[in-house]
Amino acid sequence: MKSFTRSKQILDHNRRFIPGGISSTNRHTSPTVCFTRGRGSRLWDADENEYIDYHAAFGPQVLGYHHPKIEQAVLETLETGSDLFGSGPSEIEGQLAERICSNLSWADRVAFLNTGSEATAAAIRLARAATGKDHLIVMQGGYNGWHNDVACNLMTPVDQLGARRSPGEYEFHPISAGIPEMHQQLVHAVNFNDLDSVRWVVEHYEVAAVLLEPILQNVGLIKPQPGYLKALRKLSEEMGFLLIFDEVKTGFRHAIGGYAQIEDIAPDLAVYGKAVANGYPLAAVAGPARWMDYFFHEDTSKRVLLAGTYNAHPVPTAAALATTDVLLENDAEVYKRFEVLGARIEQGLSGIYSSAGVQATIVRQGSAFVTYFMDHAPVDWHDLASNHDYSFDERLRHALLEHGVFFFPLPTKQCSISASHTENDIDQTLKAADLALSEVMTSQS
Ligand SMILES: Cc1ncc(COP(=O)(O)O)c(C=O)c1O
Repeated sequence: MKSFTRSKQILDHNRRFIPGGISSTNRHTSPTVCFTRGRGSRLWDADENEYIDYHAAFGPQVLGYHHPKIEQAVLETLETGSDLFGSGPSEIEGQLAERICSNLSWADRVAFLNTGSEATAAAIRLARAATGKDHLIVMQGGYNGWHNDVACNLMTPVDQLGARRSPGEYEFHPISAGIPEMHQQLVHAVNFNDLDSVRWVVEHYEVAAVLLEPILQNVGLIKPQPGYLKALRKLSEEMGFLLIFDEVKTGFRHAIGGYAQIEDIAPDLAVYGKAVANGYPLAAVAGPARWMDYFFHEDTSKRVLLAGTYNAHPVPTAAALATTDVLLENDAEVYKRFEVLGARIEQGLSGIYSSAGVQATIVRQGSAFVTYFMDHAPVDWHDLASNHDYSFDERLRHALLEHGVFFFPLPTKQCSISASHTENDIDQTLKAADLALSEVMTSQS
């Protein structure tokens, strides 16, 4: 058995000064693993255990830890005397904006913030300003950040949700205390892949926007059904609400233009974060000038406040420029490599599960994948929560940890391969998975 003694000591110490001991509640795991170093596809914890990583820090590490080109860009920025000045534009923010816009066929402008939550908050506010409407539709099983509009209806237990509702909406199930009741009235959670429910809500309320991850990647990977996103695009034009893609997880990971590029859809706005800067804090809202110029509307009563002391800080901005450089190298061949590595792990895992007689469905998009222990790929959260074997999933993740493979040890959490992973990493992971699976099966028989 691995020892996590030092990790536990660190948590115990931190608890005296930080609520819960960790600066993001979402980072709590059992056992507590405190990582101290990362390089490429590998992580080391405070007890010197080594892992092949598939967590990617919840998604940002698309190129791998301490990628030399990102490190170099960051160091060069510091060496030039560049810093946060808080006055006037910077050349580098313009360079990054041009780079991003030139890779999004449908967007003219981009605004930079620090986190995905800030970016979704800004996009929602803009949608309200532009439409003059207040209500918002989100997806049951989607995650769009921690603020009042979106801190709801994530992994809501089915016994709280009740029977599947369609067409219709679920009650607001907050994932945080302190969200005013009045605010909750403005937010409507519907099933992913359920157009009728979106139409139903729009017919009942004044809806400013639908905000959704184009693939639900905070509950594994729930893909859009063929035609769903295009139909949503059409509906938004017919019914007068904005379509906002939350590409914080999908953006830059699946394609340089995000999942919108893959399905050839032009949302009204898209929000990015995570992989755009390979681990540095940068987020963005992008869209056509028609909407984005509300952030600098000439009529100041219509202007949507875009502000932030640290927005487009030169260090993460340089990291993002360098990350996009690497992603675009050789005609963006890294995405082909993701496909090769992704297919290798998918086929390998699939063979392991079927030889062991385990009912499993692997869902994958490029470098991101998850195994659902159920007989089909879920279409929405209600389907997943009703059918997935959570306990088996959790036990397997714990067994993998013991074999030096870090799948975030919480059921349904999605795995990500980085550009630093090798075929050898994947093959070692498959050997570990084979062993871990037989241990889990032996312990339950
Ligand atoms: C799809 C999505 N949107 C928004 C967010 C919020 O981003 P941040 O944690 O940077 O505030 C996340 C974070 O996991 C996310 O996965």
